[in-house]
Amino acid sequence: MTDQSLQDQALQAIAAAPDLDALQAVKTRYVGKSGLVTKELGTLGKLPPEERKARGAEINAVRGAIEAALTEREALLKQAALDAKLASEAIDVTLPGLPLPAGGLHPINRVYDDLTAIYERMGYAVIEGPEVEDEHHNFEALNVPWYHPARDLQDTFWLEDGRLLRTHTSPMQIRYMVNHEPALKVVVRGKVYRYEATDATHEAMFHQLEGLVVGDGISMTDLKGTIAEMARGLYGPTARVRFQPSYYPFVEPGADFAVWWENPRGESKWLELGGCGMIHPNVFKAVDDLREAEGRERVYEGKTGFAFGLGPERIAMLKYGIPDIRYFYANDPKVIGQFRGELG
Ligand code: DAH
Repeated sequence: MTDQSLQDQALQAIAAAPDLDALQAVKTRYVGKSGLVTKELGTLGKLPPEERKARGAEINAVRGAIEAALTEREALLKQAALDAKLASEAIDVTLPGLPLPAGGLHPINRVYDDLTAIYERMGYAVIEGPEVEDEHHNFEALNVPWYHPARDLQDTFWLEDGRLLRTHTSPMQIRYMVNHEPALKVVVRGKVYRYEATDATHEAMFHQLEGLVVGDGISMTDLKGTIAEMARGLYGPTARVRFQPSYYPFVEPGADFAVWWENPRGESKWLELGGCGMIHPNVFKAVDDLREAEGRERVYEGKTGFAFGLGPERIAMLKYGIPDIRYFYANDPKVIGQFRGELG
């Protein structure tokens, strides 16, 4: 092979090397230790001395051309490799971000928020209270006689020290009146406990919203108007309410109330929501007794007022189509996760 064709061949191979590995192979083939050009230099010793210098210069010219081309191609390929690496690692700040799983409000809290918003519009204070109660506030002061079935061991979680887990939010009526003078309007939100077998509509722990209004000349009409206003707030201007006589020791007269409710699927029925009534004089008397024992004035005897209590679980089950009350507290992400991300 002539010098020229050896050089042409090498330069072509260099130009065609797609990456640094291929280029290294070309380098080894031509100018490596036993490369074609290197071998050619090894033949110089066999030439007569007077020819060696000229021949040496010729081969070195070929080698120089090849090495220059190698260096140039190597720089090019290195830059290309770097560019490719940078491109692959580049951050495109215009890409959409990764979704962050957001929390959400529990369905019971949503219903509570709806309810308390309605009562706040009507000027009510919103309060909470202790879940561990004493017998006096939970039963006695609410005119629940010792022989009432609700005081049975079977309905109440008793603590070893004689206290209990409140079975309703009504004891907060007593606590609030002991500490505040009439006139007053207040709703209580919080957990209550019943010692009973659980099923699709019963849980050992659930929630209540309790209302209490005390003043002068408060009547059953005010109570009915208030419940109707709540129903309209929950279910729109055409909502209807129904009252049926019922017995609760702390009210007289007492009633149960229901709301005519039409769901988005077009079904409608009476939704039994809770109990209510006009505050029993014995409750006012028990409050004044407690106030007196604390050195406060007796201010409740002779006042009038109403109270009501209802369960947000019933509203939430219908509103969100949740068929079993136990789903609320099983912490199953498949159920509760459906309420994720819609804060409000
Ligand atoms: N405390 C009752 C219960 O847990 C509900 C209730 C009924 C509350 C009548 C009231 C009321 O304030 O007036 O079943």
